[in-house]
Amino acid sequence: MNIEERLSLMKEKIKEISESYTEESIGGWITGNGPVPCKILFIGEAPGKTEVESGEPFVGMAGKNFEHYLNLVGLNRDNIRITNACYFRPIKIKESVSGKPSISNRSPKSSEIKLFTDILNEEINLVDPKLIITLGNTPLKTITDFNSIGECHGNLILSTKINRNVFPMYHPSSLIYNRSNEFKDMYLQDWHKLKEVLKNLI
Ligand code: URA
Repeated sequence: MNIEERLSLMKEKIKEISESYTEESIGGWITGNGPVPCKILFIGEAPGKTEVESGEPFVGMAGKNFEHYLNLVGLNRDNIRITNACYFRPIKIKESVSGKPSISNRSPKSSEIKLFTDILNEEINLVDPKLIITLGNTPLKTITDFNSIGECHGNLILSTKINRNVFPMYHPSSLIYNRSNEFKDMYLQDWHKLKEVLKNLI
């Protein structure tokens, strides 16, 4: 099978897993986006509403922050691949006061991420990146033995779990929740460290 055929099979599998999932509520699914193979692979948590509507990862609010920093270090969407540890959108549905259901995002459960283990590994193998950048705790725990982004962000590590170079970063949406200047400075510093790592690796 060539790359196109393998990507299209992956898409079929994501569709099948998502559409037959009944344990919890979900709101659509997406695939990864960007060139294959590619030297740089970013992995996020799971798509939100805007991502499912457009079929692309990181195009909503967190995506705006992401793209800003990406461009700041001289990268753009054409020279990176982006995907998620969970390919469907995990949602929770609550009845609001008006009686109308309100839908919001939730974090994926570890059993939901496990549904996609083989697909994520297949995507990593197809993309064959020199460096994987994990965004937030979810992809970090999925592809490395680290448990918390606080202990390893901004450092190049070798994941023995998948035998690849990984650079863990905070999730871009953490800028929305943590508005302190200290955090913003540290986040910016991590992007500059990434630029240095890329210079040496690529
Ligand atoms: N957050 C993620 O982790 N992934 C997306 O694709 C969008 C927002």
